[in-house]
Amino acid sequence: MINVALPKGRLGDKAYALLARAGHPCPAMQEDNRRLTFENEAIGVRYFLVKPSDVAVYVERGAADVGIAGKDILLEYRPDVFELLDLGMGRCRMCVAGPKDFRDDPTQTLRVATKFPNIARAYYSAMSREIELIHLNGSIELAPLVGLSDVIVDIVETGKTLAENGLAPLAEIVPISARLIANKASFRFKGDALRALCADVERTMQA
Ligand code: PRP
Repeated sequence: MINVALPKGRLGDKAYALLARAGHPCPAMQEDNRRLTFENEAIGVRYFLVKPSDVAVYVERGAADVGIAGKDILLEYRPDVFELLDLGMGRCRMCVAGPKDFRDDPTQTLRVATKFPNIARAYYSAMSREIELIHLNGSIELAPLVGLSDVIVDIVETGKTLAENGLAPLAEIVPISARLIANKASFRFKGDALRALCADVERTMQA
């Protein structure tokens, strides 16, 4: 049995569709219910639905053999997992954003609001810029609007949320996409099955 942690939501739906096309379908997934585990015993696959930011936790600790996680989560939490494949979906950018006319004053500590403190800290420390981190859990764009921060470090996909709040991307930190990740012990003990799954997915992506 291969256990797969899928992120709940749009990315998870797309990732599951890819895995199903790649020969790992689970018809129970189509049922409209609130179950969190779905199994296709005949082909030996079980899917878990988890909060996107928790996928790497399930995989790192071996509760799931593989999972689909955004590169943002991998960079932020640095889980001890294998990154097998860039799935080319869930593409977006990790950016610094702020008011369109924002000018950084290097004599002042920069106040940065973010859901990604480690990514933000690494980015500014590489340029020796002193910052004050403000760790938020969502609606990050609000912070500069109400004077909580000067700028934000956040995911930009279409740029719509920024634009509708009078903000703009100021610098790109890193491009992001969804990755297929694997538990390290699973990769040793279920290596053949995981390598086959990875190859199936890769072949399907190229088809
Ligand atoms: C993400 C991100 C931005 C928005 C960017 O938020 O934090 O707010 O999507 O998308 P856009 O560029 O297409 O507008 P999410 O939906 O995850 O919500 P949250 O951060 O407020 O929890």
